[in-house]
Amino acid sequence: MQRLVATLVASKPGGRIAEIGTSYGDGAAAIAAALADGASFVTVEVDPQRAAAARERLARTPAEVLAGDWRDLLPPRAPFDLVFADGGVAYDRVADLLAPGGILVKDDLAPGRPVEGDATREALLRDARLEATEVLVTPAMSCIVAVRRT
Ligand SMILES: C[S@@+](CC[C@H](N)C(=O)[O-])C[C@H]1O[C@@H](n2cnc3c(N)ncnc32)[C@H](O)[C@@H]1O
Repeated sequence: MQRLVATLVASKPGGRIAEIGTSYGDGAAAIAAALADGASFVTVEVDPQRAAAARERLARTPAEVLAGDWRDLLPPRAPFDLVFADGGVAYDRVADLLAPGGILVKDDLAPGRPVEGDATREALLRDARLEATEVLVTPAMSCIVAVRRT
């Protein structure tokens, strides 16, 4: 997952990059290392202790770590050119964060499940604003990669 996200991040020079769910900053460190020229990066963690640990870990990187709920903190900063959605819920609202052409990556899906009745898949694979597909990352995990059309 980190290599996939880092590769997509590197395709966005000058891009505005966001991560939902920093945890202790493992993924954020990989994103920060892959940022293209002029790109900015903000990552949001709802657990204050994790956010503080991640802020310390990422102090020498361009990452900005915010403590709080992404639903409060990211919409005022949108639009983003890439969002790595790795925590929280309400994925019906996550496409609102994207600029046209912006990429969304949602990981941690169990592969082989139907779209019907799965809130995350329904929200992301059936949103008319998104061109989206599910990608198998390991035998036990898939992700959704989506691009906002307009
Ligand atoms: C799977 S972990 C993130 C892992 C991290 N992205 C990495 O690559 O190391 C999910 C994180 O999302 C956080 N989270 C859950 N709901 C959230 C919300 N509404 N806003 C921000 N963070 C949230 C959790 O506290 C948890 O630390």
